[in-house]
Amino acid sequence: MRVLVIGSGGREHAICWKLRQSDAVDELYAAPGNPGMRELADLVPIAVDEVQKLADFATDLKIDLTVVGPELPLVLGIVDEFRARGLAIFGPSRDAAQLEGSKIFAKEFMERQGVPTGRFVIAHDAEGARDAQRKFGLPIVLKADGLAAGKGVFIPQTEEEFEETLAIFFEERRFGSAAERVLVEECLTGEEVSVIGISDGERVLPLATSKDYKRIGENDEGPNTGGMGAHSPAGVLTGQQAGEILDRVMRRTVEGMAEEGHPFVGFLYAGLMMTPDGPRVLEYNVRLGDPEAQPLLMRLEEDLAEVLLEAARRGFERQRLHFRHEVSACLVLAAEGYPAKARMGDPIRGLDQALARPGVEIFHAGTAVKDGAVVTAGGRVLNVCATGADLREALQHAYAAAELIEWPGRQLRRDIGRRVVEGHAKG
Ligand code: AMP
Ligand code: GLY
Repeated sequence: MRVLVIGSGGREHAICWKLRQSDAVDELYAAPGNPGMRELADLVPIAVDEVQKLADFATDLKIDLTVVGPELPLVLGIVDEFRARGLAIFGPSRDAAQLEGSKIFAKEFMERQGVPTGRFVIAHDAEGARDAQRKFGLPIVLKADGLAAGKGVFIPQTEEEFEETLAIFFEERRFGSAAERVLVEECLTGEEVSVIGISDGERVLPLATSKDYKRIGENDEGPNTGGMGAHSPAGVLTGQQAGEILDRVMRRTVEGMAEEGHPFVGFLYAGLMMTPDGPRVLEYNVRLGDPEAQPLLMRLEEDLAEVLLEAARRGFERQRLHFRHEVSACLVLAAEGYPAKARMGDPIRGLDQALARPGVEIFHAGTAVKDGAVVTAGGRVLNVCATGADLREALQHAYAAAELIEWPGRQLRRDIGRRVVEGHAKG
């Protein structure tokens, strides 16, 4: 079959890498793709938010299955457009994508459906937020309602920081219409884990667990990023906890969305805090996590094209997904300045040497080709991934390969997985 992957990051590179292993896939296209995918897919220069152009392309080329990587086209309604044209596409409709597109929709949905989550208040102005703060204390969490590229979450620790945050939302109006309403949440503590499943609208098949490291700095310090590393399994969940999350969060969500008339087809991602009182959902994403997708797909045994096609056709023909026992780890190499302003255009050295190491895969996230050389072209530049018999070994392989790759100002967190390996992780 002919498959089109939409997106240009490390997640989409990993999706293409996995789809290429499928006997069912004859032709693979990526829009817009990235230089790392050139040997796997034909690159199509259409941006992810050009929904009409993407649908025209899929119609012209008789694409049999489209797989959407990032949230933006989903929230814009790409799935509705493709379905209206009779094209098979894997992802949630515009209505179902509200689980990520509106944090307030997600919270109200969880409240209605009894999905465990923290307490919250919706604030329309600074006074409303101050009332909530008196109720929840400090630290406290404030979030823009709409999509804000991961930058719309604030966790002020002091009165002063709280007032600064209110000024950002209600005076500066930094997030415009994405923050006409602001979500104020109690601050939860515990170990964070990501649980992702694939849904056909009725059932959800869980992927293996994974853990993402969101802060730029070691020991989880500094600003939030899209993710600086990940591994699978998460290593911090018992089988019982994973089962509880599957029942109370994943299944409940898929059943609730179907009940409310917005059946959810796609990757369903729950970002969870394992609190002393049990799991609490912090957020939903309606897509695979990036970088969680990379280590997860390295362990997936199934033919990804077949699984996604079944889901897109609204009927799984299988009961579960299988994952290799090996552990996989992914390290993000980021550009100088990320996550604020990333420096770009630097030639990347050592890629081939790193790739030659056994068990290592390198997915491109923010690269470009200039004068025949691969250069940095984004905040998160490369994902260096490796497998091993256990997490310690997977990390050793990944770090050994990552050390071979250089450019000026390259950032790499040295403590990905460390607390899990040492058994100090909570939860
Ligand atoms: P979100 O995009 O909603 O997942 O928020 C980004 C990050 O902020 C999460 O990965 C958590 O580290 C943190 N966070 C979000 N909500 C809360 C909360 N209610 N309590 C504590 N930390 C939170
Ligand atoms: N790594 C977190 C995310 O994809 O949202």
